[in-house]
Amino acid sequence: MNQSHIGLIGLAVMGANLARNIASKGFSTLVYNRTTEKTDEFIKEFGTENLKGSKNLEEFVEGLEKPRKIIIMVKAGAAVDAVIDQLLPLIEKGDTIIDCGNSHFGDTIERTKKLQNKGIYFVGCGVSGGEEGALNGPSLMPGGTGESWEMLKDVWEAIAAKDFSGSPCVTHIGRDGSGHYVKMVHNGIEYAVMQMIAEAYDLLKRIYELNPKQIADVFEEYNKGDLASFLFEISIPVLTQKDEFNDGYLIDFILDKAGQKGTGKWTAIEALDRGVGLSTVSEAVFARVNSSYKDQRIQLSKSFSKSRKDVKTSLEQTVKNLEKALYGGMLSAYAQGYELIKLAAAENNWEINLSEISRIWQGGCIIRADILKFLTEAYVKHSGNPHLFEMEDIQNALMKSQDAWREVVMLSVTHGIPTPSLTSGLQYFDAITTERLPANMIQGLRDYFGAHTYQRTDREGTFHTHWI
Ligand code: ATR
Repeated sequence: MNQSHIGLIGLAVMGANLARNIASKGFSTLVYNRTTEKTDEFIKEFGTENLKGSKNLEEFVEGLEKPRKIIIMVKAGAAVDAVIDQLLPLIEKGDTIIDCGNSHFGDTIERTKKLQNKGIYFVGCGVSGGEEGALNGPSLMPGGTGESWEMLKDVWEAIAAKDFSGSPCVTHIGRDGSGHYVKMVHNGIEYAVMQMIAEAYDLLKRIYELNPKQIADVFEEYNKGDLASFLFEISIPVLTQKDEFNDGYLIDFILDKAGQKGTGKWTAIEALDRGVGLSTVSEAVFARVNSSYKDQRIQLSKSFSKSRKDVKTSLEQTVKNLEKALYGGMLSAYAQGYELIKLAAAENNWEINLSEISRIWQGGCIIRADILKFLTEAYVKHSGNPHLFEMEDIQNALMKSQDAWREVVMLSVTHGIPTPSLTSGLQYFDAITTERLPANMIQGLRDYFGAHTYQRTDREGTFHTHWI
């Protein structure tokens, strides 16, 4: 039997689509799934000369060219370890296992160490783009060693989406857990952007009483300018889909409780653990959490009913302001996410290239957007991965956004409409661009009640005062 170039384990939707994508690019692909019926059904429907199935793991491993390249696309967590443990007695030194699931980067670091000791390469690879991306071109964020990257490069470059210049949306991110780390932060930024879109929708709906179609029209205009992005693009069908059970739009019948699978939460926890300001992402996670308390919200809304206030800003003006606020909010979310990546990279010894990361997010992934071309170019111009707000082009964009952004935040506060991500993005901007913050007051209080000491502005050393 001819051996296949690459193998893939796990035929749920993402795995199945990734296998079809790889095979369609001319790489012979062998698949295996724990439940054999799934393999049989998959091969019946999609099997070709290039895409074959195995009934058991021994046959699967035997059917692969050496050194073997085995993609695992199973449920994150214990299933990944279970599959690795089943593979270990069957594979050899020099083979590579690639985990394309949404694994936690810490698990990826541990698995890399464990497999390194046995001479097996392990690649934790972030994959973004959902089902459609997996099939037609995802954004790929592989970690692992330079050697494993060289082995994977031809397949990965062939199956990835294309950036704005037509290059594949894949780059070697760095060692061990870096690929999954960058994917985690990508998802954190995705949470923030989605939250800000939802906040804009809420302001237009509740203050200006626009219907979903009218809001879609506003977003359609946004999508032709600086905010052009996949998420704004899909906002339009999400808003205009008619309901199948009632007259009107589906969006009005969707329960306002947001789900989450945890990558936003991981990003927020990482920011707290490492000490990086990431409020725009964290607020987006908390917004989903708050949304889940539906019964409590119903009860409390009765006790605090909000009277309708006069609207002083015209709809036309608010639409303009919102566009700028959303742009500022996105820059803030990216700045926070990139600072987190930078710190994690420094602490884990990863060599990270933020221009490349911005570039590979230009296509295939959920946060793909025109803004990423701007960020890619900004990081090409400024070496050394500076803070986003240190770069002149970004500063100009923020200067143009900030007044309108403040107007939007004031509007939401006046009308009692929560805009936690838009607001916290502005708060982050204001904090990080303020020379003297009131932390001196906090230090004074800490020293008063706990003798925690403080430093001074006018001399070196650590001080404690016997306060009156
Ligand atoms: P879904 O994505 O449909 O929710 P899932 O439970 O996340 O499914 O599982 C995704 C893939 O992981 C499936 O291919 C599943 O194999 P089965 O079809 O046999 O369920 C695979 N998977 C989950 N746990 C596994 C394990 N312990 N060993 C091997 N494969 C496993």
